[in-house]
Amino acid sequence: MSSSEASAGPAIRVRDVTKTFGQGAAAVPALRGVSLEIDPGQLVMLVGPSGCGKTTLVSIISGVLDADSGEVSVFGTRWSDLTPDERTARRGEVVGFVFQQFNLIPTLTIEENVAVPLIIRGESRAVAARRAREVLASVGLDGRASARPAQLSGGMQQRVAIARALVGDPALLVCDEPTANLDARTGQSAMDLIHAASRGRDARGRPRCVIVVTHDARIFHYADRIEEMEDGRLKAEPSHFVQEERKWVPHYENGGDEGGAGARTGAAAEKEQAG
Ligand SMILES: Nc1ncnc2c1ncn2[C@@H]1O[C@H](COP(=O)(O)OP(=O)(O)O)[C@@H](O)[C@H]1O
Ligand SMILES: [Mg+2]
Repeated sequence: MSSSEASAGPAIRVRDVTKTFGQGAAAVPALRGVSLEIDPGQLVMLVGPSGCGKTTLVSIISGVLDADSGEVSVFGTRWSDLTPDERTARRGEVVGFVFQQFNLIPTLTIEENVAVPLIIRGESRAVAARRAREVLASVGLDGRASARPAQLSGGMQQRVAIARALVGDPALLVCDEPTANLDARTGQSAMDLIHAASRGRDARGRPRCVIVVTHDARIFHYADRIEEMEDGRLKAEPSHFVQEERKWVPHYENGGDEGGAGARTGAAAEKEQAG
């Protein structure tokens, strides 16, 4: 890679990104000008209603999809400065992905699934297999290396997918609705691993960034920061969520009906806590 890696400042910079799918009368504007910065070592959650552009945004951040306009740089490199081949290679080095549907290859064993990213990068099978077994052990699945995905529970399959995402020590981990197909307990255990990954470093010693797209309020407490999207934009206010004691709660100005235990502003909540 020719460009020097910026060591200071945000790890991820998104500037005025737009994206429209389709053309003419069928055009769907998915992103209408999104700017976002993420610091090294942060776990950022991206929340918002279905169809608001979350998957499109993380696809552009991770270099899977091109923006129509605007700029994205990840650890000092702009995707738009790279050729398609360079981009594919860099994505393999820098980004790990976890999806709602796990996306494991059913005909491969667990160990082979986890080894795939390393084999694609040109590692020998022996090295890839050894590293895959190490990472499987770190997610508590060392006994299941020769099983096939269908023999595992959904929670275990997601842990395999997390192992696969981390096997190459990526600088950026992108998780799109990682707990949507899991029950509360297995969702927490997947998030424990994802959160631990956000405290780790990449192959070059840089603090890792994690982006988690989610609807799942049960996992909000894992976030360092929550960004809300609506209709192709990030909401202007820093967050509609207020963090109290590692728990993010919606911030309602006027006592909306979604407040559950009652609408409380951040200030009111602070006062309550102070006694
Ligand atoms: N490949 C595509 N072709 C056409 N429209 C798409 C495509 N991907 C997403 N969209 C549309 O773009 C909008 C944003 O989608 P998406 O980013 O998937 O939202 P989210 O992940 O928040 O549910 C939606 O209206 C969706 O229908
Ligand atoms: Mg989506």
